Amino acid sequence: MEQKRKVDRSIRRNYRRYVFYQVWVRSFRDGNGDGIGDLYGLYDKLGYIKSLGVDAVWLSPVYPSPDADYGYDISDYRDIHPDFGTLEQFRKVLDRVHELGMKLIMDLVVNHTSDDHRWFKESRKGKDNPYSDYYIWRDKPNNWDSLFEGKAWTYDEQRGQYYLHIFQKKQPDLNMDNPRVREEVKDIMRFWLDMGVDGFREDVINFISKKEKLPNGLPFIPAVNGMFAYKDGPHIHEYLSEFRKVCDDYDCIQIGEGPMTTVKSALSYLTGKNKSLDMMFSFDHMMADCLFTEYMQRPFSLKKLKRAFSKWQYALNGKAWNTLYLENHDHPRVISRYGSEKLRRESGTMLAACYIFQQGAPFIYQGQEIGMTNIRLRDINDYKDISSKNNFNRYHLKDSLERRMERIHNSSRDSSRTPMQWSSARYAGFSKVKPWFVVNSNYSEGVNVADEEKDPDSILNFYRRCIRLKKSSKVLTYGSYREFFPDSNEIYMYERVYRGHHWLVICSFSKHIVKVSLPKEFENRPNELLLCNYNGERKDNMCFEPYETRVYRFL
Ligand code: NOJ
Repeated sequence: MEQKRKVDRSIRRNYRRYVFYQVWVRSFRDGNGDGIGDLYGLYDKLGYIKSLGVDAVWLSPVYPSPDADYGYDISDYRDIHPDFGTLEQFRKVLDRVHELGMKLIMDLVVNHTSDDHRWFKESRKGKDNPYSDYYIWRDKPNNWDSLFEGKAWTYDEQRGQYYLHIFQKKQPDLNMDNPRVREEVKDIMRFWLDMGVDGFREDVINFISKKEKLPNGLPFIPAVNGMFAYKDGPHIHEYLSEFRKVCDDYDCIQIGEGPMTTVKSALSYLTGKNKSLDMMFSFDHMMADCLFTEYMQRPFSLKKLKRAFSKWQYALNGKAWNTLYLENHDHPRVISRYGSEKLRRESGTMLAACYIFQQGAPFIYQGQEIGMTNIRLRDINDYKDISSKNNFNRYHLKDSLERRMERIHNSSRDSSRTPMQWSSARYAGFSKVKPWFVVNSNYSEGVNVADEEKDPDSILNFYRRCIRLKKSSKVLTYGSYREFFPDSNEIYMYERVYRGHHWLVICSFSKHIVKVSLPKEFENRPNELLLCNYNGERKDNMCFEPYETRVYRFL
């Protein structure tokens, strides 16, 4: 039993004003010299995170795991991965986070465990085992595909049955219909909350209740064919409200990851009698250049991006709070997708403004704030991520090798998992020895924290300015949102309005100079320019440079 520790529980009251920073520890900072990021390295860099203006850290899984899916396959929920440190070191990190006035959110992955988890090892022993019903076993599989590889069922010789795995076969799905499994989850939550963590980011949480009898999916839709039967399942609200009660006892927050979630279904988790989550990660805006990342790529469409942004802004206004993000460990780097690597500083700063000033809590993913970009490895075997490798081998097999590799370059999750670039020293200052994964070579061309610190106009310092501005303003925090010129292929423009105050955010997504017109109601009105990613006088004030962004306050 973990000793219950007294901590300040103000997160529930305040999270709407927070900026979150996501750490994927393996690639953040190596503190013990083995080439793998860890909790020692994180401890040393907490001051840096704080210096950005961050209020809360979300830690991707740090539990023991065979790393078939880099931590999202957990083999023990109550310990720390030996690569990352010990429980004692974790407590030090937690205490330091709190001393710095920040909060810490853990990743809770309970749709599935690792096949190396004790429960699964027991469960596969046979039907009489006490853990027999912890997982989903069938004599005959249905037709569901796995999101990560082939079919969603694997035959287990020992048990003589098939088990379900929506992700890869080393990630068997837990049977949440079993009350004992739910008790286990609640115990795990209490274990970390007693230690003092401030809440959870809950992995694929809208998948945990499967439709009774597991009906077949639509056979002609690859990979996601079973989704209608496991997304937002029949008991999801019941199960989540049980978890919610635990959070209520500790005044902490639950943020759900909701793959493929719609506005309507998100609102069912965030509002009303079933309210169980404080915020939810949606995905619509991550598909402005693809459909399910690796599966189908298409040219970036600003209109698609704006439609997705605005849909969520309008729908949640006054009812719930958005999570705002452009990157995490599951997506390639945003400059390489929605911006321009050639105009890295310009597009990286504009992209920061375009999402941070919306209504909601901004999340920044490690390295995003220094404008890290995608990697392009020559051989698929040089990539580490299981989903990239499997998707390479299952989709578009008739295309040329070059085209298939190009898809991986554009879409692999590995681009966000390269070591954090701290300096221009060897291995980007991430480690003193060869890191576990390739370092993006642009660390020696200025894409690193130390160089960005020195330049007042860097992406890093622009993030700081955006965060400061957002936090200093009730308009940018609480104001409602209205988009202008939704049909423009070059400009994203929105206002935030609060108690009669109007602020306007203008972002050019163009590589060229663009003449911008203001909406009629703002023409000739006095204003103050509060933020811009370009310096200096302009001949024509409303000509926007490539990827220019401005924030105006109208007087
Ligand atoms: C979502 C996580 O963010 C991702 O990294 C993981 O592979 C899947 N869920 C499965 O846990």
